[in-house]
Parts: sequence; C-alpha cells; structure tokens
Amino acid sequence: MELIHPSWVSYLTAWLATLALVLLSVRLRRRKLNLPPGPKPWPIIGNLHLIGSLPHRSVHALSEKYGPIMQLKFGSFPVVVGSSVEMAKVVLKTHDVLFAGRPKTAAGKYTTFNYSDITWSPYGPYWRQARKMCLMELFSAKRLESFEYIRVQELKLLLSRLYELSGKPIMLKDHLSDLSLAVISRMVLGKNYTDKQQENEIVTPQEFKAMLDELFLLNGVLDIGDSIPWLGFLDLQGNIKRMKALAKKFDKFLEHVLDEHNARRKGVENYVAKDMVDVLLQLADDPSLEVKIERHGVKAFTQDLIAGGTESSAVTVEWAISELIKKPEIFEKATEELDRVIGKERWVEEKDIVNLPFIDAIVKETMRLHPVAPFLVPRAAREDCKVAGYDIPKGTRVLVSVWAIGRDPSLWEKPNEFYPERFIGKSIDVKGHDFELLPFGAGRRMCPGYSLGLKVIQASLANLLHGFAWKLPGNMSNEELNMEEIFGLSTPRKFPLEVLAHPRLSPHLYNL
Ligand code: HEM
Repeated sequence: MELIHPSWVSYLTAWLATLALVLLSVRLRRRKLNLPPGPKPWPIIGNLHLIGSLPHRSVHALSEKYGPIMQLKFGSFPVVVGSSVEMAKVVLKTHDVLFAGRPKTAAGKYTTFNYSDITWSPYGPYWRQARKMCLMELFSAKRLESFEYIRVQELKLLLSRLYELSGKPIMLKDHLSDLSLAVISRMVLGKNYTDKQQENEIVTPQEFKAMLDELFLLNGVLDIGDSIPWLGFLDLQGNIKRMKALAKKFDKFLEHVLDEHNARRKGVENYVAKDMVDVLLQLADDPSLEVKIERHGVKAFTQDLIAGGTESSAVTVEWAISELIKKPEIFEKATEELDRVIGKERWVEEKDIVNLPFIDAIVKETMRLHPVAPFLVPRAAREDCKVAGYDIPKGTRVLVSVWAIGRDPSLWEKPNEFYPERFIGKSIDVKGHDFELLPFGAGRRMCPGYSLGLKVIQASLANLLHGFAWKLPGNMSNEELNMEEIFGLSTPRKFPLEVLAHPRLSPHLYNL
C-alpha cells in the first residue's frame, strides 16, 4: 500500500481545520443574530414561493402572522418588511440615514446609466447633490410656478378632447397619461414628444410611449438575477436583454435632446433656462459643484424626471374616478362643493384647491387605498443596525408597506371603505410628516417631485369632476365595476376604466 506523503497530510489537515473554523465562526455569528420573525426560507428560492402576483397582498397576509416587522428571503437576499406606523417611523425617520441606501438591481444598472439617476443611485455625495438640485432648482416653488401655463394649456386640451368625445366610451387612463406625459415632456424637455403634430422627430409619439411603458414594466419586474445572482447570467426571463435594448433607445433619444439643447445655448450670453434639461446642463457646466455631473448623469436625471412624473398621477386619477363611480353620493358631494366654490361659469385653477377641502380629501383617500408604490421604492441598510431589538445586517433590503398602513384597522375606521369625509377637519397631509399616510414616502429618500405630482392630480381631478358627469357604458351597474389591481412599478387597475363623460357646464366653456 502506498503511503501518502506526510507533508500532504499536514496540508490537508490544516486546510480542513481552517475550513471548519471559518464555518463554525459563520454559524456562531449567525446564531448570535436576533433576526426579525418570518417564514422559514426554502433553499435557493428563500420565500419567493409565498409571493403571488400581488406581492403587497401576499406580504400583508404574512405580516398578519409574523408581525409589523418581519424578515423574508427573496432568493439569497434578506428582506425586512415594516408594516406599522411605528416601523415606518423607525425606517424613514429614526434610522433614515442608515436605511437611505437602495439595493443594486438589474433595472438600476441597465436602464438608469449604471445607477447614475436619482432613484437608484447609492446614498452618498452624488445622490445628495442630486437631491439638492431638485430642491433648489428643479422643483422650487418659483420654478413650478413658472411652468403653470404649461399645465393649464395641457389640461385645457384634455378637457376639450373629452368634450368632443362626450357620450362615447373612452379609456380614461389613456387620456390621463397623454396629459401627464405632455406636461412633463414640456417642463423637462421643452416640447411634447408625444404630440402627433411634431414632425421629423427622433422618435414617433407611439415609440416614445412604448419606451416609457417598457421602462415602467422593467423597473417593476422581480428579476430572478436580483434574488438569485448566480442564475442572473442565464437571463431566464429575458429581462436583461430587453433592458439593454431599451437603454440603447433611450440613449439615442437623450443624446439627441442634449445636442439640441446645447446647440440652442451655444454662444448665447446669460442664457435663461427654458426647461429642466437646460437647468441640468447649466449645473453640469458649473465648476463650483461638489461632484461633477457628467453627460450620462444629465441623461439619467432627465430620464428619471420623465419616468417619475408620468404614470403615477394618471394612475391615481383613474383610481379616484373609479371609486367615485362606485359611490355616486360622494360624487354628488364633490360637485356640490365645486358648484358652490367655483360656480358653473369657469374652470378650476390651481390656486382654487386650498378652497376645495372635499376634493383634497378625495385625493388623500384615493392615495390611502391605492398608493402608487405599495412598498415605496426598496431601501437598503447601509450598516448593521438594531430595530425593535432585532438585528438588521448591512445590505438587507427594507420595504415599508404603506399599503398595509393605509388599511390598518387600528388607525382607520372601516379601513376598506372609500370615505373621504374621514379627512375633513383633520390635519393629516401626504407630505411625509404623518406616518399613517405616506404615498410619497418620507425622510431623505422621499419623492422629490411630490408637489408637482399633487398639483397635476388635484387640478385634473377637480376639473374632470367639475366639467363632466361620469357613467359606465351599457347597462353596467356601479356595483359591477371591477376594482382589482396589478403590481408593477405603479399599481394600476387590472382592467382599465372605460367610461362615458357627459358635460355639466355651459357649452361655451368647452371652447378652450
Ligand atoms: C402621484 C405622483 C407621485 C407619487 C405617488 C410618487 C411616489 C414616489 C415614491 C413612493 C417614491 C419613493 C420614496 C421612498 O423611497 O421613500 C418616489 C421617489 C421618487 N420620485 Fe416620485 N412620485 C410621484 C411623482 C413624481 C414626480 C412628478 C417626479 C418627478 C418629476 C418624481 C420623481 C421621483 C424621484 C426622482 C424619486 C427617487 C428619489 C430618491 O431616491 O432620492 N415623482 N416617488
């Protein structure tokens, strides 16, 4: 029998001993951690088998069993879900700075110029500067006011289109998306790329809309590679291929937009910015900036503003009209308020909203029951920390279920009922101070475009209710209207709302 050389034996022994020590220390470290309660994960997929096509509902059912702080595993990644006001406060306020990271997702990498946008960029000086830019430049009260004429013009166009179609069945969301896209395109890019009258453009209106739909879809997908990284390279769902193709299209479009803007600015002394791309290009030229914004950064921010500003307001207004169709008595109360405060001889203006508390309450009630982002945008723990006595290791993904908080019976009477009156006389707002109602999130990562979003939602909803009575087509009763939703980057109706609009005001007012 051949003897193994003694040096091999000692090598092998030393190697095995080291391996045993490493494994033991990992186990001991793990055993010491007091992780939040949650279902036992399966190998490889973790708890993904428990998540259905409406993840906010599946996760809510689990949190009813495991409590307001729960740990799940999406593949190999720990995901902590907070589902109460207390947990929302801990994540978005007490430990806001610890949880101000974002997880690295395939969508962030491939569709936002390698995390160069605001939404997916990691916490740090680049992101901080982007937020400062939003606060001081892009969404300042002065800037938003200077663009009011655009919102007014586009809303008038919508109202006159609806008048032309009155009495005929229409898909409301299509018209609402046209409005928000037109508003945001003109504010950000300087012109409406979805306008059918634009000629010789780099993209057709249909292509531009299809690109945005694809961007929403791909930013909302649960990609296998994001949960099980070693399967990522196989691209089993084909998402990565689609993301790369989409990124190319956006890049071509944004290059063209930037070239056009630079040509317009070139050689003009004291050029005055006409849109948000102009503002971004001026900032990119600013040598005093703490962190330089490169061309790909300008492109990523521009894309973020277009994406953030379109779908969310259209989805919210579609939900509001759907809820009101189901409850004609609330419709009546709203029109009573509009007739009393505005009268039947004019349209509602943005400055009227402060005098329309019931319309404001309808918007809040819609956002309570149908938050566009039921889990906000995922956050990531930047350091190891402790929450409610539980350990949250660095890198853990953190979701706050504002959907569950909006339906918490300990906070809301008859939580599943659409009842805007609950907000009358209450000081609860949606601006990130009242943790029972957080459609825009709260804290450092809170939506920077909330004031613009609110303006568009409030003004369009108020005028749709003021200008038209809304009916379902055929003999469909209000009770029959299906209220199911689908989950994605936004949470729209499963079946788009088909309705008929009947004018309520004097005919001359529709001559807009
Ligand atoms: C109804 C309208 C809107 C809703 C409901 C909404 C909702 C949200 C939510 C829930 C977040 C995540 C907050 C968090 O992680 O805590 C967010 C982030 C963001 N929103 Fe909005 N949003 C709206 C309109 C807009 C508009 C009009 C813009 C820009 C034009 C915009 C741009 C952004 C950006 C850039 C972020 C990422 C912020 C960051 O990560 O620092 N949103 N939004």
